[in-house]
Amino acid sequence: MMILGIETSCDETSASLIKTNINKTKVQLISNVIASSLSLHAKTGGIIPEVAAREQVKYILPVIQEAIKDLKNPQEEIDAIAVTTGPGLIGSLLVGVETARTFAYVWGKPIYSVNHLFGHIYANFISQNSKSDDEIKFPAIALIVSGGHTDLVLIKNHKITKWLGGTRDDAAGEALDKTGRILGLPYPAGPQIEKLAEKIKTDKYKFPRPLINSKDFDFSFSGLKTAVLRKVQASGQLDNETISNICNSLQEAVFDVLIKKTLAASHKYNVKSILLGGGVAANQTLRDRFKSSIKISKSSIKLFVPPKSLCTDNAAMIAAAGYYNYEPMIWQEISANPEAYFD
Ligand code: KG4
Ligand code: ZN
Repeated sequence: MMILGIETSCDETSASLIKTNINKTKVQLISNVIASSLSLHAKTGGIIPEVAAREQVKYILPVIQEAIKDLKNPQEEIDAIAVTTGPGLIGSLLVGVETARTFAYVWGKPIYSVNHLFGHIYANFISQNSKSDDEIKFPAIALIVSGGHTDLVLIKNHKITKWLGGTRDDAAGEALDKTGRILGLPYPAGPQIEKLAEKIKTDKYKFPRPLINSKDFDFSFSGLKTAVLRKVQASGQLDNETISNICNSLQEAVFDVLIKKTLAASHKYNVKSILLGGGVAANQTLRDRFKSSIKISKSSIKLFVPPKSLCTDNAAMIAAAGYYNYEPMIWQEISANPEAYFD
């Protein structure tokens, strides 16, 4: 089965083709095209929804055209369409949803209405044709860490999932981006913070670890930017070494909480796998720290992380989530829902 995925929830316009094979536990990636309006938003230090939506309109058809360019007869070869219906910015979402509905109508194909957050989880179900292509065993805990979300989800199987907790205020990526702004770093700051922190070996500033010992699976990262702001104000002139130390201590604080809570959930529910997803999961320090923490805990839990290119927003993960997690619908049944969350 061949699925065309479409993702337009925020500032990336993406179209992908995946192939499913019932004998395999992962889907195969055929194409994954992503156009981003990030450089425009970097100029304004954040996303302006109106600008993002206009860019989606500009890119959507060329991106789809590029994704399906190697098919001789797309209408015959594509079996279904999967599209992000939420959460996201309404103007951006509508571009993808209406385009997907149009293709489904004209081609006479079924359509999967996909929650973007499940998409991030299902980036782990795209074959990498490598050693890490091990089968993902259930139950699993998924940690979604992106610019808009920080969520822990228990996955009993593809159809039965349970949201365990999430952020009460800023998401992990949002905390990095907002702190980056205080430090004068370009938007989005996550990758830059990672680079600056690389050279630093000690946690000099020991920022607070919010909710690290709470018994629930909630997160709260909004206080970190205040802690950083105080440090910046106390430092007077910021030199490069101080900035790098702040970046490293910030990462340490955020990652300590993410890892401790994810492992606590994994042990509580006795899971076999941990799945990371979302833009922050592209961070190598976070990946390495997860790996070593699992090793230290002497558990047999297996860690899965998507390739970095599939951590940030893309349509391949939407197509994979559609296939595994949703029932196909007819085009009249789907609509954009910017407030979508976990059921
Ligand atoms: O998943 P994503 O592309 O979009 C959302 O759905 O939000 O995530 C974007 C977020 C941004 O906050 C960005 O700073 C962060 O992911 N990010 C990173 C890295 N790459 C992207 N954070 C830390 N380290 C990275 N390497
Ligand atoms: Zn995302």
